[in-house]
Amino acid sequence: MDAQALENEAQSAIASAKTLADLDEVRVRYLGRKSDLKQALRDVRDPETGRVLNNLRAALEQAVADRDAALRETELQQRLGEERVDATLPGETTERGHLNLVTQIRREVEDVFIGLGYSVVDGDEVEDTWHLFDALNMPPGHVTRSPLNTLFLNGDIVLRTETSASQIRVMETQEPPVYMVSLGRVYRRDTADATHSAIFHQVEGLAVDTGITVADLKGTILHLARALFGEERSVRFMTDFFPFTEPSLGASVSCFLCDGRGCSVCKHTGWIEMGGSGLVHPNVLRNVGYDPEEVSGFAFGLGLERIAMLRHGVPDIRMFWENDLRFLRQF
Ligand code: DAH
Repeated sequence: MDAQALENEAQSAIASAKTLADLDEVRVRYLGRKSDLKQALRDVRDPETGRVLNNLRAALEQAVADRDAALRETELQQRLGEERVDATLPGETTERGHLNLVTQIRREVEDVFIGLGYSVVDGDEVEDTWHLFDALNMPPGHVTRSPLNTLFLNGDIVLRTETSASQIRVMETQEPPVYMVSLGRVYRRDTADATHSAIFHQVEGLAVDTGITVADLKGTILHLARALFGEERSVRFMTDFFPFTEPSLGASVSCFLCDGRGCSVCKHTGWIEMGGSGLVHPNVLRNVGYDPEEVSGFAFGLGLERIAMLRHGVPDIRMFWENDLRFLRQF
């Protein structure tokens, strides 16, 4: 075989290999077990030919190794160039959400009452009819006890229609004095429209102590109204009826939009209804084992969505549940 011709051919093939895969093919072709060179080495008969072929093999192996190193270096440089990370580019931002407006109001109300020394108590959304109705002095024939208004789960187990049952739960487990608020979801068998939703939120408040009067109720509601609607607000109470309070009082706040002069939000009365309240009915105190001759109390219940809608001019209660970000992001 012509060693010089083979070397020239192999060297130029090695030099022109563009990738590591190309180079490997070249290596197999000229140095592999079935290559002409290896075949010739096996057939060597004289030392001179053996020396020439061995030198050739060594030269080609060295050339392959050099080319291999060169190709690896180029590939590395190329990757370093292409895959460069520019640490000065702005990163990908993950958008952060925020609390739903109703949750914000819930926390505001909680803060107001924590500031007054009240405890915040969790109630159960699934209640029994004793705690939701009987103990709250609602006779068996009361309209809200109808399956047309209340969602019955099983026998006397219902989804609470109001947070008032938490009053009973708290008084059952502790002696007076009681100063508590309880906030959460309530459920009613209502068809959804702009002001009704089958699920909404209430805050329930209860204070029981010696010598509690309507004046305490009024001062407390005034404090809450000012925290929610501004320091200029005043409150007004009108007689109302709830089975669990006597007297029962509807609480209104002076309109924060027109300052009482009359506008569409207050329906030109100057006052906005906030919710129900009153002095705890003696029957309710007796139902939990309190003595109405010794202690008295006030209670109130307000809708959180209603507060949010009034304060922020939200026209439709369903917007809180639709999760349209264009709406939610405004608060
Ligand atoms: N539970 C009443 C409702 O859902 C609101 C209410 C009125 C709560 C008077 C009270 C209260 O604690 O004293 O309409």
